[in-house]
Amino acid sequence: MEKDLSNYRKNYQKKELSKKEVLENPIELFQKWFYEVDEFGGDIEANAMTVSTVADDGSPTNRIVLLKKYTWEGFIFYTNYNSAKGKEIEKNPNVCLSFFWHNIERQVIIKGIAEKIAENLSDGYFESRPDGSKLGAWASDQSQVVPSRKYLDDRLSFFENKFKNKEITRPKHWGGYIVKPTCIEFWQGRPNRMHDRIQYTLQENFDWKIERLAP
Ligand SMILES: Cc1cc2nc3c(=O)[nH]c(=O)nc-3n(C[C@H](O)[C@H](O)[C@H](O)COP(=O)(O)O)c2cc1C
Repeated sequence: MEKDLSNYRKNYQKKELSKKEVLENPIELFQKWFYEVDEFGGDIEANAMTVSTVADDGSPTNRIVLLKKYTWEGFIFYTNYNSAKGKEIEKNPNVCLSFFWHNIERQVIIKGIAEKIAENLSDGYFESRPDGSKLGAWASDQSQVVPSRKYLDDRLSFFENKFKNKEITRPKHWGGYIVKPTCIEFWQGRPNRMHDRIQYTLQENFDWKIERLAP
């Protein structure tokens, strides 16, 4: 089978990233871009990001997770610590996050180090989730092979009963990671493939070196 996609071609022209828009701190620029993506609208899940981890044998895996918070320190998402990604992060905390905001023709790529967040912060976020999601965290041994859909539905029913009229506490194997950035690239699509790329690299003195990259 063969399908030629060479006529899928888009000319990016909605925005630019000029020198005057390049802020000193990349988290500030991330915040500005995130607001603009939301404001611009369209059918987009602005906080959906790709997380890449690397296995022992050097092979990478990407998957989407939801960014739930960002601070001056970094970018927080929640998952099962025993999942495939959790096990890979345990051995190699170097990860890469990326966002593609197609509505406004932007990409952000964040390289950094993932660390588990404090338990009380994971508790706080877990409490804010709907009951169904809380029970799902108990019912799913994320990334494990399961025999059937029925097995999963039965597990959910089991935990629904177990926690009936009780507080649904956070499973210890479920919580947040913060990715502390060491390098952040902002990519703005421009006409004729002459895109704007600005890269921030963290220095030893914690200043950010700012460079423009060729598209
Ligand atoms: C839009 C979207 C949002 C998702 N959000 C999360 C999330 O916040 N946390 C999570 O663990 N998995 C999330 N997932 C599922 C992951 O992509 C992935 O299937 C799961 O985490 C297991 O990954 P792993 O086996 O590589 O560890 C999301 C998937 C999609 C498509």
